[in-house]
Amino acid sequence: TKAGYPHFMLKEINEQPQAISDTLLRRIDKNNNLILDDIRLDEDEIQKIKDIYIVACGTAYNAGLIGKYIIENLANLRVRVDIASEFRYNKQFINENTLVILVSQSGETADTLAAQKLAKTKGCRILSITNVVGSSVARNSDDVFYTLAGPEIAVASTKAYTTMLVAFYMIGVELAKLKQEISIEDYHNIVEKLKKLPQKVKETLSVEKKCIEIAEKIKNSKSAFYIGRGLDDSVGKEGALKLKEISYIYTESFAAGELKHGTIALIEKDTPVIAVVTQDKLLDKTMSNIQEVKARGAYTIIITDKHIEDVKNYADDVIQIPEVYDMFSSILAVIPAQFIAYYTSIKKGNDVDKPRNLAKSVTVE
Ligand code: M6R
Repeated sequence: TKAGYPHFMLKEINEQPQAISDTLLRRIDKNNNLILDDIRLDEDEIQKIKDIYIVACGTAYNAGLIGKYIIENLANLRVRVDIASEFRYNKQFINENTLVILVSQSGETADTLAAQKLAKTKGCRILSITNVVGSSVARNSDDVFYTLAGPEIAVASTKAYTTMLVAFYMIGVELAKLKQEISIEDYHNIVEKLKKLPQKVKETLSVEKKCIEIAEKIKNSKSAFYIGRGLDDSVGKEGALKLKEISYIYTESFAAGELKHGTIALIEKDTPVIAVVTQDKLLDKTMSNIQEVKARGAYTIIITDKHIEDVKNYADDVIQIPEVYDMFSSILAVIPAQFIAYYTSIKKGNDVDKPRNLAKSVTVE
């Protein structure tokens, strides 16, 4: 049931603090150790792993982009992210020393299953991140991380995405520990930062009202864009997918630095440009990109956890989210993107939970 909410999507957005807490907190013991008991990679096995491939579709792929950043930066391992439907046709460098991480909410996506089959024939170790216990993806994996988000009914994925991020955060930290890339002290400090996330996600839900105003302003736009750098670019990819799949507004996301290499030509008066700005080291660079689009008449919206001086010179609207450890900010930054998509779809009179032409689980290739 919708538990009093008008749509499953709104219910599932609001369930995120609980879902994230279920995924996270029951896997942390009282001494701040992660307990990933379904993942049996030990110190010896991790030494064998030379490359990681993350393979998934849609929102799960977008979560994989964040996963790449986390694992590369924490565990110092090379990670490639492939779209599952492309995986079989790309040149692969996979063997017994490859860890393939399959990400799938349903665990039944045909393309992901086909990728799994190929990875198995090449002898790769397979770790899956899935929400459905006993699903096909889970059954054919060496290790499974269940996201424990509870059933997700709306076609547009929300809590599955944020709990996939939790999975990557935990796997990244654990791999870093196993590979001795971080000290035990740093390990415990990062786990302490992780524990704060459910509460911070809960606080972030208060952006809803601001997002309703923004939805009103963009509902008649023919196109919209997300921009950002690094992790913020990856959040933008998910924000863009959400907005296009339920509002039917043509939305793309661009690495902010790419604007002047082509995409800035698309900016017209009042074109909505949503910038995600959560990474300290990239802040100045992204702000100057926002200025460039604003100068061309864009309607600029900034999602940020920073206190940006003179922000009104850059942004027509600012969505302020709570500040967390930079590496974990994506899990908060996506929430306004989910609300903006939801309310824009509502205001257009669309069927939010069942957008046209789409199915919840894509079991054909
Ligand atoms: O069940 P899966 O995670 O394998 O599904 C993958 C995609 O089909 C799915 O994430 C899709 O992109 C959603 N509609 C996005 O909201």
